[in-house]
Amino acid sequence: MTATHVPPDTMRRIVELATRAPSVHNTQPWRWRAGPTSLELYADRSRQLHEGDPDGRNLTISCGAALHHAQVAADALGWAATVTRLPDEGTPDLLAVLALEPATPSRHAAARLDAIEKRCTDRRRFTSWPVADDRLTHLAAQASSQGARALPLTDVTERFHAEMLINRAVHLQPGDDPAMVEQRSWIDRGVQDGVPSAVLPVPDDLRTRRQSRFAGGLLDDIGGDEVEGSDGLIVLCASDDDPAAWLTAGEGLSALWLEATIDGMSVVPLSQVVEVDETRAAFHLGVLGGLARPLVVIRVGWQAISRSELPRTPRRPVAEVLELS
Ligand SMILES: Cc1cc2nc3c(=O)[nH]c(=O)nc-3n(C[C@H](O)[C@H](O)[C@H](O)COP(=O)(O)O)c2cc1C
Repeated sequence: MTATHVPPDTMRRIVELATRAPSVHNTQPWRWRAGPTSLELYADRSRQLHEGDPDGRNLTISCGAALHHAQVAADALGWAATVTRLPDEGTPDLLAVLALEPATPSRHAAARLDAIEKRCTDRRRFTSWPVADDRLTHLAAQASSQGARALPLTDVTERFHAEMLINRAVHLQPGDDPAMVEQRSWIDRGVQDGVPSAVLPVPDDLRTRRQSRFAGGLLDDIGGDEVEGSDGLIVLCASDDDPAAWLTAGEGLSALWLEATIDGMSVVPLSQVVEVDETRAAFHLGVLGGLARPLVVIRVGWQAISRSELPRTPRRPVAEVLELS
């Protein structure tokens, strides 16, 4: 039996929705190649952050998030995706192949598709309404359903230690650190990528102890540290700190984030604590007891209902990231 060809417009739509995925500094470090029945996802090394992400961990997590978005999009459009991850050792930038065949959309498809359109990184202070442990466990389970390991940080000591390390990472990378100089080059970069200062909270000059990675925005906010006491924290981790684990963590991040969006919650990845060698090592030993490598930490909470909607961050056009054969 010959496989059903996927119409080019459907391929374009799947990739367009996949590119709505979050990526580190909105670098969108992916390329897609479509054949008649399959879609290949490649890492785009020209968009890697060589100072802040020399190993490509954040790049691969970002591609993993796009990979999960593509699966959700395909499902909603009536195509089931069978995914082969890192299929060719000789071509390490080929991260995944999705073989597509017609299928009935799953019962979650419409809600998840809607969440792809609505999802964004809203870094404003959450309300002080605490995130119950069972909520965190439910969100972590979404990441686990993709094969990622996700641990809610609910123990008071663990949590205190994590918070301290997150804030320490901000201190260890002052404004003149090469990674921060590189980060600044992605703020207000242009109309297709980077982080617009319109979505970054304005620094609060009255607070001398503000400790935040992105401190130069225009968005009206009450100001605050990278993590506040009532924020929920989840860490995505793995026994190995390697591309296979990063890709799966990205898929888990996307699954968790879409579910949080459906539940009306806000998610902010905090990757600096993993980017800085000293805090990554201390997190591994001190918070995770040496049992798992931290890959990305996630802050979860509720934005006040009265908050204005944030403008969407830009994306590169599909034609630039998709090659149709
Ligand atoms: C791997 C990864 C790491 C990220 N790290 C941070 C971070 O440390 N701090 C932050 O505020 N946002 C972080 N983000 C969020 C991105 O900046 C955001 O996804 C991107 O700017 C696109 O905006 P959007 O999520 O609103 O579409 C991260 C996202 C990913 C996928």
